[in-house]
Amino acid sequence: MKSFITGVAGFIGSHLAQKLLGLGHQVVGMDKFLNNYPADFKKRNLAELTSQANFLFLEQDLVRADLAALLQGVDYIFHLAAQPGVRSSWGAEFSQYTENNIMATQVLLEACKNLPLRKLVYASSSSVYGDTDDLPMREEGMTRPVSPYGVSKLAAEHLCYLYWKGYGVPTVALRFFTVYGPRQRPDMFFHIFMRALRRGEPVPLFDDGEQSRDFTFCSDIVDGLVGAAFCPGAGEVFNLGGGTEASLLTVIGMVEKIAGRSANLQRHDRQKGDVRRTQASTERARSQLGFRPRVGLEEGLTMQWEWIQSIEG
Ligand code: NAD
Ligand code: UGA
Repeated sequence: MKSFITGVAGFIGSHLAQKLLGLGHQVVGMDKFLNNYPADFKKRNLAELTSQANFLFLEQDLVRADLAALLQGVDYIFHLAAQPGVRSSWGAEFSQYTENNIMATQVLLEACKNLPLRKLVYASSSSVYGDTDDLPMREEGMTRPVSPYGVSKLAAEHLCYLYWKGYGVPTVALRFFTVYGPRQRPDMFFHIFMRALRRGEPVPLFDDGEQSRDFTFCSDIVDGLVGAAFCPGAGEVFNLGGGTEASLLTVIGMVEKIAGRSANLQRHDRQKGDVRRTQASTERARSQLGFRPRVGLEEGLTMQWEWIQSIEG
């Protein structure tokens, strides 16, 4: 089996590559080292992969690559390349989102039109739902994003559906709910918080800390990605949530206990684009993909804390 991963040097893409290599796949991974965070993190993510015989890394921009040649013989595509980050998607920055989230997806789908692909799995986001009291969030529920990032992820989700309907490209979209664990992006809260705790620096806390997320551990997301690739059918959307909705203050308390240190919280206003709560209904993923999140919050936070120790030296 041959798999192609876009965004392979990123947080989730690099974990996925390791899993697929373990399953015996030949893996071709592409990444352009987008400057959303320092390339050193991404190069470290790639380090364990590049020494493996079945792995080929291409430092290329998906929008400009010769995809017709690269996709020959590929069975599965995992499309994770994107400009992520909710709060940074306003204003002039939005062009990064249209280019890397919408254009890049359209270019990839065009290249897939006549390929004998088994599946193209697209990494969508819980941010497509926006702020809603209709919890848990269900796939058939209303999608009304409150951030430009959410709009770009939803647009790309629609493109996946269009190319399935119009050209039979076997796409599946997975809506990830705030992913955490080792290698988490340095712009995400757990990473910012643990780094500050380790260094004895103040922790910026937006809003009142009672906002909550259905946090999902990275290996559970990877299992969902693999389950979606192997599932029969296409043209569908699935939520992938860890099943452990928790507020930021709850997480802060848990990590303080794990680390044996107290955080110095510095309050800031609620940020534009942030939703108050997320909670995933995972019934569809459970029944059709065999999705079973296995890593609980305390266990996952402990693993991320240990990783932060290792990279902070
Ligand atoms: P990440 O930034 O660590 O990984 C994305 C990678 O894509 C980066 O390494 C970047 O350099 C690469 N990239 C971006 N544009 C590219 C292009 N045009 N060509 C080639 N490479 C390109 O982010 P992540 O947290 O691993 O997220 C992976 C995917 O999952 C994204 O699509 C994101 O929107 C989605 N997602 C993430 C989360 C989360 O909590 N981390 C939640 C929901 C959805
Ligand atoms: C995360 C990812 O960053 C997105 O890429 C992804 O699409 C989204 O999950 C998703 O589930 O779809 P988010 O939930 O905003 O987005 O995750 P964080 O960036 O880790 O923020 C979590 C919470 O911490 C937010 O309420 C935010 O306001 C807060 N925060 C963040 C702080 O209080 N301080 C900070 O310094 C950073």
